[in-house]
Order: sequence, then structure tokens, then C-alpha cells
Amino acid sequence: MEAINIFKNAVNELHGKGSYKTERIITTRQGRLIKTADGREAINFCANNYLGLGGSDFMVEEAKKGLEKYGFGLNSVRFICGTQDIHRELEKKIASFTGTEDAVLYSSAFDANGGLFETLLSDQDVIISDELNHASIIDGIRLCKASRKIFRHNDMNSLEDALKESGSYRIRLIAMDGVFSMDGDIAGLNYVVCLAEKYNALVMIDDSHAVGVIGARGRGTAEAKNVFGKIDIITGTFGKALGGASGGFTACRKEIAELLRNKSRPYLFSNSLAPCIVYSEIKALEKLEHDTGLLGRLNENTGYFRSKITQCGFEVCPGTHPIVPVMIYHEKKALQTANALLEHGIYVIGFCYPVVPQGKARIRVQISAVHTRQDLDDCLQAFKKCVL
Ligand SMILES: Cc1ncc(COP(=O)(O)O)c(C=O)c1O
Repeated sequence: MEAINIFKNAVNELHGKGSYKTERIITTRQGRLIKTADGREAINFCANNYLGLGGSDFMVEEAKKGLEKYGFGLNSVRFICGTQDIHRELEKKIASFTGTEDAVLYSSAFDANGGLFETLLSDQDVIISDELNHASIIDGIRLCKASRKIFRHNDMNSLEDALKESGSYRIRLIAMDGVFSMDGDIAGLNYVVCLAEKYNALVMIDDSHAVGVIGARGRGTAEAKNVFGKIDIITGTFGKALGGASGGFTACRKEIAELLRNKSRPYLFSNSLAPCIVYSEIKALEKLEHDTGLLGRLNENTGYFRSKITQCGFEVCPGTHPIVPVMIYHEKKALQTANALLEHGIYVIGFCYPVVPQGKARIRVQISAVHTRQDLDDCLQAFKKCVL
């Protein structure tokens, strides 16, 4: 069949470009150590398991309680019969944790971004978007009739130029990641908020790599940049620091939440988040509200690893975030190095074009609160053996 041949050729093209993705299979819980399908044990440095809650007994036990009390699933979207008391409770907790008025749950952060822009904006409005925004923001913007302007990555002059050029629109919405996942750099949100105030714009950030991870209490980019409570819209995920299962949210002003509940398509037309996830996320947030111990360990580990890997002579993207991209530049070498590191018991992934720009291949090391000092030293030693 011609169609199937077209697909086959497309797959072959991916192989040819070296961008065909093979999935490594693990046979254990997510956590500090994982086992691959061929029985190899490795220290895990590629999960977004920043606080170590993923795979923890804590999350598993809370999820079991949620499963017992609230059942497996709701067989419904939220507005038919899919809203339990815990869904509203989690939404209130997320709002308070992120310094916003209300929040709306989604099946994923991808859906949260997908259902945001189209709901709020029309062709009278403009979205001003960072050039390195996550795919889900880009796709969400594509679904929307608003005009769009792209500003240079985290460049406030470029953002201001775009704001100046867009004075004729009804609503101006600045959209960017709080933390950019490929470089681990953090949005200059304090400057963004100043510009938004000056030009009467709204600010939306995707804080998927920031909530639970940065800021003195782990409240995300707004806290880290001293603008807590000043962000109009924050999207985020439960799939990273907050336990790593699935689900996402949009935390925002109450009028925006009301509109999303009424008009956002992935919210209206997709099943409610599973009760055991909702229940255990409430418990995770309660834990993080009262105890910054995990965050402290994460910061200590990140500081140690960043300083040691730099001392060893590797080039890393500068910063303070537990995403530590070690630059390899050469695409094939990055993939080979990741495989060699696995042979040495270190589980990392090489990132190549098109996920990162051509010639900027890297190995993204992700630090977790559950790594021991020995784990970090083992990783450094393995890098020395495999790269230098
Ligand atoms: C910045 C950012 N936004 C959104 C997502 C999507 O999150 P989810 O897995 O909840 O759809 C990701 C995950 O890769 C991400 O890194």
C-alpha cells in the first residue's frame, strides 16, 4: 500500500538522520537505581525525579490509600460525574503552593498548555513567545487564533521590542518556560514582570521543571526570582518533581480558571485525573509545604556535582538548576558516550538535533535529592573514563 510505504520511508529517513528513538526498557520502579531489561543495574541520572518522590514508598503508600478510598477511576469527564472532593482540594493546594488564586487539573501539562491559549485569546490578541519554549506551548499557541511574536531566548530587549510593536492588540500575553529543559536555564521572570507591568501584558510560564525544584521553598520560578504572587498563569506537571506519575495543572487568576473549566477542550473532553494520583499529590504537596529537607538535599547535590564536573574540565551549561547539560557538541559522540556511560553503570541520555540545535549535542545529567555523594562521584569518574 502506498501510504504504508510513505510511512516506512519516513521511518527510514529518521534512521538515516540518526534521530530514530529507541526506548531503553527498565524493569524496576523509577528511582535512584534502575535495572535495564538485560539485567544491568545503573544509577539513574536521567529522570526528572528531582526530589526522589518518584518510586518512593511514600508516594506508593499514599496512592494505595487513595485507591482504597476513592477507587480506580471516574469513568467520566469532570463536568459530568468526574469531580471528587479531592480534585477540588488538590486544585486549591496547587493554587496556594504556586501563589495563585485557583487551579485547574489536566491529564498532563501538555494538555494544560494545549487547552490554554485557544480558550483565552482571539484574533484580537497577541502571544509573545520565547523562541525556545517547550513543544506543548508551541502546539497550544498553534491552536489559537491570536497573532504571535517570537522573542530571542530570555532576551529582555527582544521581549520589550515585541511588546512595543504590539500596542494595538486587545490582550498581550507573554509566554515562556520558567526553566528551559534543554539548558536548565531560568527565565528572567523579575524583568519579565516589570516589562509586563510597563506594557500592560499578562505573563504565562510553564513551570514543569521548577515547581518543587527552585525557590527557597520550592515554589518555582516566581519564588526564585522574587515575583511570587505576581504571575497570571502558571502551568505545570505532576510528572516530574511532584512524584512523576502523570497529570498537569494551570494555576491562575480565578476568572481565568472559571473560563478554562467552561471552555478548555482537553479539560472538558478528557477523563478526570485518576483519584489515586490526585490523593497522593495532595499528600506530596503537604509534605513539601512543611519540609524543605528534600529540596535542601537536591540543592546540595546539585552544587556539588556542578562544581566537580566543571573542575574535571567538562563544559556544562552554567546555572544552578539540577538539569546539568554536559556539552559534547558532536551528535554521534553524544549518543556513543551515553551508551558507554551505561556500560559503567550510569544511566543518562544523549540529546541531539532536532531536540537541541544542530552541533550542540549534549548529555543531560539530572541530579536528584536521592543521589548519594558516592553516586555523584561514580558519575564523575564514569564521565572521566568515557569522555576525556
Ligand atoms: C517544560 C515542559 N512542559 C510540559 C511538559 C509536558 O509534561 P507532561 O508530561 O505532564 O505532559 C514537559 C515534559 O517534558 C516539559 O518539560
